[in-house]
Amino acid sequence: MNNQVCIVTGANSGIGKVTAMELAKQGAHLVMICRSPEKSEPVRQEIIEKTGNQQVELYYCDFGHQNQIRKVADTIKSKFKTIDVLVNNAGFIAKNYREITQDGYEKTFAVNHLGYFMLTNLLRNELKASPQARIVSVSSEAHRFTKFDINNLQLEKGYSAIKAYALSKLCNVLFTKELAKRLQGTSIVANCLHPGGVGTNFAGDSTPLFQFIFKLGKPFLLSPEKGAATSIYLASATEAGRFNGEYFDKKKPRTPAKDALNADYAAQLWMASTSMTGMDGETF
Ligand SMILES: NC(=O)c1ccc[n+]([C@@H]2O[C@H](COP(=O)([O-])OP(=O)(O)OC[C@H]3O[C@@H](n4cnc5c(N)ncnc54)[C@H](OP(=O)(O)O)[C@@H]3O)[C@@H](O)[C@H]2O)c1
Repeated sequence: MNNQVCIVTGANSGIGKVTAMELAKQGAHLVMICRSPEKSEPVRQEIIEKTGNQQVELYYCDFGHQNQIRKVADTIKSKFKTIDVLVNNAGFIAKNYREITQDGYEKTFAVNHLGYFMLTNLLRNELKASPQARIVSVSSEAHRFTKFDINNLQLEKGYSAIKAYALSKLCNVLFTKELAKRLQGTSIVANCLHPGGVGTNFAGDSTPLFQFIFKLGKPFLLSPEKGAATSIYLASATEAGRFNGEYFDKKKPRTPAKDALNADYAAQLWMASTSMTGMDGETF
């Protein structure tokens, strides 16, 4: 990965932190995108100390705010003319009430899906400039727990934290499918993955019940090191460069849910996301 520019979102914690650490260890020029200076600057220092790689940069963005996504993308574009790897990893499970962002969207959908959609598309020219770029999006097996309904993306009907999370992770797979289609014939590939059940800080922002369940289950979950293995594989392994548009689990392509394979759904989601982010003419 020598000097390749690799971006990891949510790089201060859990799967993202291990992914970032490994890419830095492999010699990447690492760009961390995180939301909290207090939580992420110490991690940047830790990565530099543990890997000896001084090329570790940190930028701030809360993916629940579209203006912040645009701002961080502008900053990165002004600094790097080429991006080789983008790992869309930042994500969360919400509380059991429906929260709307200042842009007007259900928060889980906004952070977990629109965040990936916007950052990826805003960096399209820099990704195209790489001889062989990779876009890796962290989804989840939870994508199987829901159905796709273009008329209920904001879960006005039947909201629950788990439904919102499942839908956002289904959107990660559909986004990857449509993106991969648009990337055919270019030097870029896009894949997504399930990391496994991983003992991280996940669910820290969720309901007390989810926090309790996640804490209780933590000893039985994968370590963040094991949980990051597929992200690292897709971002850096030579052999992984031949895949495009796949859903991975344990470093192997796996068939996702039926709805995730529906090309019409993928196209509908892309159009809706373009409109919700005001990105007409700014996408792949
Ligand atoms: N853990 C699992 O079992 C599991 C299973 C399947 C999929 N996943 C997926 O794996 C990814 C990483 O999760 P993790 O398990 O490593 O959890 P984690 O330790 O909580 O890490 C999540 C990262 O996302 C960041 N993040 C959350 N909301 C954000 C926002 N609004 N703006 C910017 N950054 C935000 C967090 O920042 P802060 O530290 O500031 O909160 C943190 O850096 C997520 O996409 C998750 O859906 C996890």
